[in-house]
Order: sequence, then structure tokens, then C-alpha cells
Amino acid sequence: MSSQIIPVEAFDYVVFGATGDLAERKLLPALYHRQLAGQLTEPTRIIGASRTPMTDEEFRDFARKALKEFLKKDEWDDGQINTFAGRLHYVAVDAKDDKGWDELKKLLDTGKDLVRAFYLAVSPSIFGDIAEKIRDHKLITKSTRIVVEKPIGRDLASAQTLNDTIGKVFKEEQIFRIDHYLGKETVQNLMALRFANALYEPLWNSAHIDHVQITVAESVGLEGRVSYYDKAGALRDMVQNHILQLLCLVAMEPPASMEAEAVRDEKLKVLRSLKPIVDGDVEKLTVRGQYRAGASAGGPVSGYLEELGSPSDTETFVAIKAEINNWRWAGVPFYLRTGKRLASRMSEIVVSFKPIPHSIFDEAAGRVVANQLVIRLQPDEGVRQWLMIKDPGPGGMRLRHVSLDMSFAQAFDVRNPDAYERLLMDVIRSNQTLFMRRDEVEAAWKWIDPILKGWEETGQKTQGYTSGTWGPSQAIALIERDGRTWHEND
Ligand code: BG6
Repeated sequence: MSSQIIPVEAFDYVVFGATGDLAERKLLPALYHRQLAGQLTEPTRIIGASRTPMTDEEFRDFARKALKEFLKKDEWDDGQINTFAGRLHYVAVDAKDDKGWDELKKLLDTGKDLVRAFYLAVSPSIFGDIAEKIRDHKLITKSTRIVVEKPIGRDLASAQTLNDTIGKVFKEEQIFRIDHYLGKETVQNLMALRFANALYEPLWNSAHIDHVQITVAESVGLEGRVSYYDKAGALRDMVQNHILQLLCLVAMEPPASMEAEAVRDEKLKVLRSLKPIVDGDVEKLTVRGQYRAGASAGGPVSGYLEELGSPSDTETFVAIKAEINNWRWAGVPFYLRTGKRLASRMSEIVVSFKPIPHSIFDEAAGRVVANQLVIRLQPDEGVRQWLMIKDPGPGGMRLRHVSLDMSFAQAFDVRNPDAYERLLMDVIRSNQTLFMRRDEVEAAWKWIDPILKGWEETGQKTQGYTSGTWGPSQAIALIERDGRTWHEND
């Protein structure tokens, strides 16, 4: 069956922080792509809202420039761009006072019956202010939703405060907490692989799986996000959300359905079963790294401290040996790692099966390598199942390690939509399956907090690593101590 575009109801998307980086790089291109695909119906509007004064025309010019920069050449179509620009409006509002809110209300009232989504692409420090203004100016209709971007807090307590603040204005079913990893095509494929095939599920447990690796490696450095990143670090920026969400999808029990609550209930159970990493274990089970000068994408790059311009011990790399305390996964380590300025941009989940119990082959046949399933999230999305076969041809029984390989780009001639495209439309469809529920976010922080505390209490320092490598040697030692190795690119 080929891909299908199901048009969504007409909507008003109000984007707070409309002139920011996220709107420019992701939100505007994503909405344009959905128009191009024929998914938008009339009279859909996108309303930019920020502090900077701007006319509609100026905002349209801003959007045109953003699209020029972030679309591929063949995705630009003059007619479509003009239609898209016609959907754009702009209102200057201030989160801290009443300036602009009446004007926003007037504009929104002309689309009273449309689905209404408020997207908060702004600092979480003003989430509360904006939510209250939305309520006080009576902008909430029956079909209103609010979308919030991470970071949702910097620890459990601040996440709870933030959730309380938003929760005072919006009901949980109106709140869409985005983790854009959940919108990635291959991440959803993980669910298809696990739950649309009978093959894997009987083997998906500690009796058959030796360990799991989750790697989200980036080759980029700070990309100008200095002040945010230095306060966050890799654990808060990537592990608390993206990596733990991936871990949940690998480890959760089969949900009863794809309904949001069914899937989120199962993910929550995984988060609550994570074995706490506390006290002396923090140093044993986690590695912090920070990149030094080196080479990336063929050219020399400076180190984190030079980019930052001040001293800092914020981690740009983290590796963790995690465990899940439940029947299915007891004793199966989940090795997690993520970092900036690593050897390449590569995200994957590797499920390593246990070795065969006994080999009937003699030494001349060669080593029998345990099976591995590699789910590649980016680049080159796809799935690879590693197996042993007989080396073809005469010459006795020689074994060979080969992969059944499916690269989605090669197998299907369809464009791979950006994660935001699906997620933005799911908000309009009011489908929360791929969004994080409040209790999930908080359970994730509950596991992260003791690691942060352990680092602080023991003064666990970052280990330097050269840009363009796979991180500090301590991360290699973390897995090799257990007689295992990080999966290498193949
Ligand atoms: C964001 C992080 O959530 O994800 C960034 O804040 C990171 O630091 C980005 O670069 C990675 O996303 P992707 O989709 O490029 O893997």
C-alpha cells in the first residue's frame, strides 16, 4: 500500500517565538511541506507571535527567507510559496504584559470554529506567562491545544512546577509535549517491527537478548546555542528525553492498541522500572565527556571551551549503562551514549542476541557471531538483521556473517517526512500517541536526578575527547569491562 495523505481539519496555528530558530528551521518548512502534500484545508492560517514588532508582510518575507534556506531546491514552488505566504499573519505580543493580546483575539475570533493550536517555541521560563495570558484573554475554545517544546524542567522539581503551571490552564488532553524523536520515521518503525511481526516478540527478552545499545551521535558542535546548552549538557538535552523515549519503545510491553493512553502507560512502566543509578554507582555506570579541538567533516574545529569562551565542565558526551528491573529485562544491560562532535552523525539501536548455546562446527568454519538487529534512525534509515550463513561455493563449511539489509530510501520511493511534519499534524488531529504525558516526563527526571546529584557530590569531571572521535576512552572501557564492544559503523 502506498503512502496516503489524509487532509486535516482547517486550523489556526499560533506560533510563539515565530522568529526564532525552531520556527525558521523546522516549523515553517514542516507546515509548508504539509501544504505541498495537500494535507491542509481552507482556511488554515499560521499566526506568528513574538515580541518583535513586524507587519504581516515582514513576517511573510521572513518566512520566505527561511524556506529558501531550509528547503531543498526542488521543493520550492512559486505558486505554493505564495499560497503558503497568504496563510501567514503576525501579531506582536508580550508574554509579560497585555500588549498585542486583544489584537490576537480579534484575529483568532475570525476563525472561531477552527482547530486552534498554540505552539510555544519559546523559553520555558515564559510558558506559564503565555498560558495565563491565553486563558485571561479568553483564547481557549473547545478545540484548542497547546504544544510545548523541551526542556520541560531541568530536574524533577522544576518539571513538576512547569507542568503544574501549564496544567492550571490546560487539561492534560490538550497538552502536547513534543519529543521530536518520536516523530522520526524509523522510531515509529520500531513499533511496526516489534508489533506487526510475530518473529521478534518471542525472542524479545532476557532469555534471548544479551544487551541493547542506543547511540545518538552528532558531528555538530554547539551551533550557536551556547547559553542554553552550557546550562543543560548532554544528559538533560538528549538522554532525559530522546534516548529514554527510544529505550521505552524498545523495552515496553506490547500495548493493547496504538491509542495514546495504551502506549504511554507501557512507556511509563519502563521508566518506572529503570534501576536507579545512585551514590557510588554513578561513577561506575556513567561517563561524562567534553570535546576538545579536532577535526569534523574534514576540517579543523575548535574545542567546546573555545566555542564557549569561558571555563565550563558541562558534558557534551554521556555514556550510561542502564538496567531495567522487570521480568522481561532483568540482567540485560542497555548501553546508552550520545555526544556532539563525534566521528559522524549516526543514531541507531542495536539489539544483540545471545550466542548460540553450542557450536556443531569445527574451527575451520570460523567464529559464530551472535545475531544482531540494527535499527538505523539516521542517516540512511533502515533495518539490518545480521545472521550467519554458509560461505557460498566449494571448500568445506565456512561460516560467514552477513546482513539482511533494508535501507528505506532504496526500498521505497517516497520522501521521508521530517519528524515535525507528522507531529504538527497529530496535534491538529488531537492524537497524543507520539507525545509525552506528564507522568512520563516526571518519571524520566526521577531517574536522571540521582545521576546529576551523583556527579555533583562526587565531583565527577568530564573527560576530554578529540572532536571527530567516538568520545572519551572511558566510554569504551564502560562497555568493554563487560566483555562487549560498541557497535561500529558497517
Ligand atoms: C535536540 C537537541 O532536541 O535534538 C539538540 O536539543 C540536538 O542538541 C537535536 O542537536 C538532535 O536532533 P536530530 O533530529 O538532528 O537528531
